[in-house]
Amino acid sequence: EKEPITILVTGAAGQIGYALVPMIARGAMLGPNQPMILHMLDIEPATESLKGLKMELIDAAYPLLRGVVATTDVVEACKDVNIVVMVGGFPRKEGMERKDVMSKNVSIYKAQASALEQHAATDCKVLVVANPANTNALILKEFAPSIPEKNITCLTRLDHNRASGQISERLNVLVSDVKNVIVWGNHSSTQYPDVNHATVTTNSGEKPVRELVVDDNWLNNEFITTVQQRGAAIIKARKQSSALSAASAACDHIRDWVLGTPKGEWVSMGVYSDGSYGIPTGLIYSFPVTCERGDWNIVQGLKIDQFSREKVDKTAQELIEEKTLAKSCLN
Ligand code: NAI
Repeated sequence: EKEPITILVTGAAGQIGYALVPMIARGAMLGPNQPMILHMLDIEPATESLKGLKMELIDAAYPLLRGVVATTDVVEACKDVNIVVMVGGFPRKEGMERKDVMSKNVSIYKAQASALEQHAATDCKVLVVANPANTNALILKEFAPSIPEKNITCLTRLDHNRASGQISERLNVLVSDVKNVIVWGNHSSTQYPDVNHATVTTNSGEKPVRELVVDDNWLNNEFITTVQQRGAAIIKARKQSSALSAASAACDHIRDWVLGTPKGEWVSMGVYSDGSYGIPTGLIYSFPVTCERGDWNIVQGLKIDQFSREKVDKTAQELIEEKTLAKSCLN
């Protein structure tokens, strides 16, 4: 039998945490044969709620779950962790822009970076979910210099899945037959969901999404804004931000990163830019990536037309501004 892997979920007492933790414990993140020890971190006011969650995890009798640590102590939480899903933070509420929550979050991410740097396993893989996700991940990277930069990522898989979901609904095809959409840039309303390289598996082979949808006007307008605004639409409907779909996407992100992407398929991940596609280095930016043996690589050589170029640059520009704002919050 495999050795247990230690997984930390920060902000575990929150609503994404409540959806995410049982998915992990059931094996949705690392597969049905990988036992795990779960560390759950939250802050003082959530102590009782965190205790309750631990009780429920015990009561659920998950065979893969070999231990649960529920704590408000960052050092205890980070001890020897192999995988870290950072959901803890100050959430965006209805009517709030991500920038409003920046200063609250940069100080959290700076402090947690130091704890991870000192106490996590040296090869730990980190996924930042809490917003502003790209910039929180960047702060984490800067204050945890001993963690390899390739190990620090942020979640844009939810946006990627939303884009696939919209295509699947529009064409009435299985979402699993929709492949290779891309979400470029920031996990914000400037993100660019791009279907120019996406295909659908049909009875007569792989067909480009553009050919099947036919209606370019829908693809270039409504499709893009629907995906960009989906988070806000869910807040409006639920009065709370998306939780189960975010949790599910976090499992998809880690699963594909650790176990690899299927042949011929890529996924979107927020990763440290190496300058691919003219995106400035020094940003955590969402790119199409393939994963193999626990490593991601940015898909190279995709053609970027003028329409896409503008959108890809615009979301990069927003990330540059967020970075400047984050730096100013640190001073
Ligand atoms: P929530 O408010 O229900 O949960 C956040 C939890 O974090 C709370 O339990 C809170 O006590 C805890 N927390 C706050 N400061 C902390 C700290 N310093 N250390 C540890 N825990 C701390 O929020 P929810 O709905 O679970 O969302 C969490 C985050 O995920 C938000 O920032 C939200 O905007 C973001 N999000 C990101 C998505 C993505 O695709 N990247 C999608 C949906 C949400």
